[in-house]
Amino acid sequence: MARHLITSAIPYINGIKHLGNLVGSQLPADLYARFQRARGNEVLFLCATDEHGTPAELAAAKAGKPVDEYCAEMWAVQDEIAKGFRMSFDHFGRSSSQQNRDFTQHFAGRLADEGLIEEVTEQQIYSNTDGRFLPDRYIEGTCPNCGFESARGDQCDNCTKQLDPVDLINPYSTISGSTDLEMRETKHLYLRQSQMKDQLSEWIESKNDWPVLTTSIAKKWLHDGDGLQDRGITRDLSWGVPVKRGTEDWPGMAGKVFYVWFDAPIEYIACAKEWADANGKSDADWQRWWRTDMGAEDVRYTQFMGKDNIPFHTLSFPVTILGSGEPWKLVDYIKGLNYLNYDGGQFSTSRGRGVFMDQALAILPSDYWRWWLLSHVPESSDSEFTWENFQASVNKDLADVLGNFVSRVTKFCRSKFGEVVPEGGKWGEQEEALIAELTTRVRAYEGHMDAMEVRKSASELRAIWVAGNEYLQTAAPWVTFKEDPEKAAAQIRLALNLIRLYAVLSAPFIPDAAEDLMKAMHTEDAEWPDDISAALGSLAVGDAFTVPDVTFRKITDDEREEWQARFAGTRD
Ligand code: 2FM
Ligand code: ZN
Repeated sequence: MARHLITSAIPYINGIKHLGNLVGSQLPADLYARFQRARGNEVLFLCATDEHGTPAELAAAKAGKPVDEYCAEMWAVQDEIAKGFRMSFDHFGRSSSQQNRDFTQHFAGRLADEGLIEEVTEQQIYSNTDGRFLPDRYIEGTCPNCGFESARGDQCDNCTKQLDPVDLINPYSTISGSTDLEMRETKHLYLRQSQMKDQLSEWIESKNDWPVLTTSIAKKWLHDGDGLQDRGITRDLSWGVPVKRGTEDWPGMAGKVFYVWFDAPIEYIACAKEWADANGKSDADWQRWWRTDMGAEDVRYTQFMGKDNIPFHTLSFPVTILGSGEPWKLVDYIKGLNYLNYDGGQFSTSRGRGVFMDQALAILPSDYWRWWLLSHVPESSDSEFTWENFQASVNKDLADVLGNFVSRVTKFCRSKFGEVVPEGGKWGEQEEALIAELTTRVRAYEGHMDAMEVRKSASELRAIWVAGNEYLQTAAPWVTFKEDPEKAAAQIRLALNLIRLYAVLSAPFIPDAAEDLMKAMHTEDAEWPDDISAALGSLAVGDAFTVPDVTFRKITDDEREEWQARFAGTRD
């Protein structure tokens, strides 16, 4: 049995995420986790909320709440929505946990001991009106690169260039709007990433099985321009992990916190401890996933994330791990994803453009979304959500192909043989041909799922559903029944078994429908079909079943038009 540690990029706490965020990390990670569990492998699947940094503070201020209270509430909201989309996390943690504070301070201490942290006294923007420094998003101004007037201190949203607050033209405080700003001296810690450039380069070069998207971004950051730069890992903020060197105070750093991008990936480790602590497990239980001296050398660790997160996971976090000089597990495979666009433009959280996770669940069950998103995942390039495409995929793949198969088979059986698997007849050439085709297809499906080729997996699964439909169409048990009821019984016995087989194979994509189908077939046999012929004998003669309710309904043109107008762009 293989052991899989799987993490999804941890979503920012400030607000409900849109479908582009979901398909960019959590959803493909969930697909992979469910598949590996179904194959009988041991899985630890972790995610959490990313709670520190200026976006969290600003969102809390906008909501008129203390930031810790705001984060606790939003964690509960995100947790509920993740459950709604059936994310099968073993633990949904919080980067503001005590565990993450401890690990973050521990890593900082280790990095300092290894000579990888430099204390730098520098000039930062200070607001006299607000009586504080203005890091990152606390300051906005005109982008020196493109002229956009509301560029943030850390990045321009218009041209995406990474900025330093001091680069902004006509800067102002986002707290008070004040322009009464001055440069003041302050001390910060810098992670000396440049010291580890060779080691990182060698590591990235050795990953020739990684997606090109992942390695090309990593290499660009390693070698382009100034190359791998040292990075400030502290901020003059009060919300965050207090700067400490291990458990000791850090001279001159009182009242400062670590930068959110330093503590966020460490939450992947902390989350494993949160999981152990929450479930009455021991330290050894989480360490066997994370410490190579405690059993994690056998673990395969896969991370899922959007392309904007790749530099932090291929460079910065590995610097933390490797630089600590301790035996922590390094990632084995990074599945980087492109962006999903929305109906001719971009999803926009600030403008409320696109469908947000809570809104999606309010209009249709999660399987409809899971199927569309996963079968159109932005894998090799950006992809686009359009309502026409969504309607067409749902109506064709889910309603016409899978749903219709289930309904025709179960209803026909009920009318001719009752709600039991019928007796009589034998399988002939047609059935053997179907088994041969399914065997080839299921092996291909496994290969794609193992390789995290999500679109290919979805196509193969669709082809597996289509093969059943085509069989039904050619075998035509409703015609056979008139001449040879025994043969029709054999055909229907196979078709009923196909429904169970489909439930097992489809569960990683559409877990709710799969569960309903298993219940309708009165079975708990979720064994993976290593042998298709044997798997098609799981439901035996005389076993009862129930005709299920509609598995997937169609989306009407009226609904499509209404939703298209509703989500065009003004979420309050
Ligand atoms: O882009 C994001 O949504 C970040 N919150 C991802 C952080 S992933 C990791 F580093 F923790
Ligand atoms: Zn710009």
